[in-house]
Amino acid sequence: MQIQVGIISVSDRATQGVYEDAGGPALNEAATGYGWEVLAEDVVPDEISDIQRALRTQVNKGCQMILTTGGTGVAPRDVTPEAVLEMAVRELPGFGEVMRIESMKITPNAILSRNLAAVIDTALVICLPGKPKGAVECLGFVEGAIPHCIKVLQEVPTSC
Ligand code: MTE
Repeated sequence: MQIQVGIISVSDRATQGVYEDAGGPALNEAATGYGWEVLAEDVVPDEISDIQRALRTQVNKGCQMILTTGGTGVAPRDVTPEAVLEMAVRELPGFGEVMRIESMKITPNAILSRNLAAVIDTALVICLPGKPKGAVECLGFVEGAIPHCIKVLQEVPTSC
């Protein structure tokens, strides 16, 4: 199923050029591997307003799904879940549950990730950990549910 995807790397240090963003390219490669079309990529600091601006821009650009990487942990600057939930019409808790449970088989630190999925307008937003390996792993854990989720979210409501 062709899915138009946006990617948002949330990282103060990547934004400041302290290091090269690796999460975005890793997710771009994974998305392409799944046969999806990457429409937009942004790197933003760990600021709610910047994250939300990027989300709004990518939704308006027609992204059916947006993958964020980073800022889901317990550090004071980790605000990605808060930024997304403030804009979302609803959370889809099954995604976060599965990502944590499956990630527990890899690292006990999986407990620290507040990763989640939510719906903004009709776009599916999935918040993934910041480590490129972790982001790609978590995407893989939930990939099977993405096509049907997008199909239902994109359906034009029929009048009863
Ligand atoms: N999940 C997977 N599959 N792989 C990982 O490497 N990293 C963990 C966790 N979940 C990780 C993972 C760690 S170390 C943290 S701190 C939390 O994700 C939050 O990461 P973030 O703050 O970079 O989003």
